[in-house]
Amino acid sequence: MANTWNKSDWRSKPRVQMPEYLDKSALNAATERLASYPPLVFAGEARRLTRQLGEVANGNAFLLQGGDCAESFAEFSADMIRDTYKVMLQMAVVLTFGGKTPVVKIGRMAGQFAKPRSADYETVDGVELPSYRGDIINGFEFGKESRIPDPDRMLRAYTQAAASLNLLRAFSQGGFADIKRVHSWTLESTKGATEYEEYHALASKISESLEFMEAAGVSGKTVDSMKRVDFYTSHEALLLEYEEALCRQDSLTGQWVAGSGHMIWIGDRTRQPDGAHVEFCKGVINPIGLKCGPTITPDDLLGLIDSLNPENEAGRLTLIARFGAGKVADHLPALIRAVEAEGRKVVWSCDPMHGNTVKSASGYKTRPFDKVLAEVQEFFQIHKSEGTHAGGVHFEMTGKDVTECVGGLRAVSDEDLSSRYHTACDPRLNASQSLELAFLVARELGAQTESRRIAV
Ligand code: PEP
Ligand code: CO
Repeated sequence: MANTWNKSDWRSKPRVQMPEYLDKSALNAATERLASYPPLVFAGEARRLTRQLGEVANGNAFLLQGGDCAESFAEFSADMIRDTYKVMLQMAVVLTFGGKTPVVKIGRMAGQFAKPRSADYETVDGVELPSYRGDIINGFEFGKESRIPDPDRMLRAYTQAAASLNLLRAFSQGGFADIKRVHSWTLESTKGATEYEEYHALASKISESLEFMEAAGVSGKTVDSMKRVDFYTSHEALLLEYEEALCRQDSLTGQWVAGSGHMIWIGDRTRQPDGAHVEFCKGVINPIGLKCGPTITPDDLLGLIDSLNPENEAGRLTLIARFGAGKVADHLPALIRAVEAEGRKVVWSCDPMHGNTVKSASGYKTRPFDKVLAEVQEFFQIHKSEGTHAGGVHFEMTGKDVTECVGGLRAVSDEDLSSRYHTACDPRLNASQSLELAFLVARELGAQTESRRIAV
């Protein structure tokens, strides 16, 4: 990484999808205050996550990344965080067991507040106002005042992120995530459902194995890692004033760390090679994600890899493919071949959400469950043909019993969408759909692990 990089260099680059703050002195006051606050994550954690993602890049582990499309100030509670966390733990256990592979767990949590939008303005009943850009920037409410970007929202987002992370750390380290409690991670809302039965059957198998291991002298008492999990946070590094204010220099090495979350990613709309977002991300040591949509070419990708991972470190860069069901084969093979031909080490992950957003007949933005599943299957199939490792999945999901995506075993229909549609932005999988998907992905992953074992 260039020693000459500075955390404010992005300011001289073209920027897109960022707000124009009208009151500069309020902006400066907010960012100065943020800069005086403690970072949320530390260099050692970012390095550990990079190492674990390196295992994914090398084909020895799998990445599960998931959470809200946009966290919101209104929907902030311990129950909300706990329920999403529980679903992530369940999914991870299903993937670890079914896929016979360690799973790296990263939440789209504790910082996922800023949203890129396809249109700058929104019109309702003939009134045109600036689009909502996430609670860290402006308000969801359709009103002139609320849509003005307010820099003080960054301070509130920081506080919410800090409190969320505090709870996540407590869950991960304080006994909640002890594998012995595998039966207790289910949610009221999924009880009685088919995928719940399947989960309990699997949890019982795990409990049985644990009893055997305990008899053989291996338990949480002797192996500490059975009682704890590593759980990381991530978000799109979209609002660079916020990112810069939380960017800190590691006192041991002098390296720069994004203190806002363990992993940060660059969105499909902000990956311009000479743009502000790439400029910021290339200078920090955190693992970086890069969303790859249908317009990215193999040359674009290689250029971005050069600037984001010049040392070719495994785990530094995660490519998050999001093409849409039926379109993966048009784009992914050429990208994989270019990366392989140049010997670049990357994690390949699949976001089957953002390429599959449609408007329902009732007017809601939704995602059909079968399209989400189809894109994941295409992703695995292509990696199989190319002989590369399908390294992970990236979902928008929640522990709440919402009705935002249609389909799934418990068939959310078009008409159901209006009953519990709570997202502040894109439609999320609910707890039951997330778990169902985890079982289906575990099947693909299990087959991949098996063929890898045979090949070795
Ligand atoms: C997102 O992940 O919420 C998002 C906006 O994705 P993308 O950049 O892939 O459109
Ligand atoms: Co989204």
